[in-house]
Amino acid sequence: MTAELPRDASKANFWDARYAAGIVPWDAGAIPAQLRLHESALASRGRVLIPGCGSAYEARYFAERGWDTLAIDFSAAAIAAALPVLGPHSGIAIQADFFGFPGDDKPFDAIYERAFLCALPRRLWPDYAARAERLIRPGGTLFGFFFFDTNPKGPPFGASRDELERLMLPLFECIDDRAVPPEESIDIFRGKERWMIWRRR
Ligand SMILES: C[S@@+](CC[C@H](N)C(=O)[O-])C[C@H]1O[C@@H](n2cnc3c(N)ncnc32)[C@H](O)[C@@H]1O
Repeated sequence: MTAELPRDASKANFWDARYAAGIVPWDAGAIPAQLRLHESALASRGRVLIPGCGSAYEARYFAERGWDTLAIDFSAAAIAAALPVLGPHSGIAIQADFFGFPGDDKPFDAIYERAFLCALPRRLWPDYAARAERLIRPGGTLFGFFFFDTNPKGPPFGASRDELERLMLPLFECIDDRAVPPEESIDIFRGKERWMIWRRR
């Protein structure tokens, strides 16, 4: 008999239990093509935060591309999974909560979003947007993948376009928004994710 898994996705033990059981359907095991395209076209790099970094493939990519990178995850099991992926860059990952972590007083040029907002229960979304706005310098960006779905259950918790715009537009301007080709998505997000760039007002 298997023990029941924790049900509250706002708690680290929800995620710890899933990493420990190898139930990680969100784990792409790779750097998304759209991230490579966007990043390689940038004229400059800066300080980037990866909240809810999980196995941290992209954190290593950012560090290798010259970004001052901080990857955080409040799950000890996630950080344990990230360390071997990060290899020589393991110092950029810390076990910490997005809503309060050491180093959050120094502004970020960018936050990279993948499968983090949709991991948060919807009641935390206003806090996510306010927190992202506080962490990013004016003119900096929140970019990455956003999950669109109407299923009330999660995670992943999907947004409608209306919901996302109501959340983000008071604080951020949307400067890029495109569908992710299905062949570039993993099963749980296929056909339902969009690449978006939000510029902090
Ligand atoms: C669905 S996983 C995505 C992991 C990774 N971004 C990826 O794409 O593979 C969500 C991650 O967010 C982390 N997480 C959830 N709430 C968090 C919080 N408040 N602070 C830090 N990490 C959090 C979880 O521990 C989990 O590793």
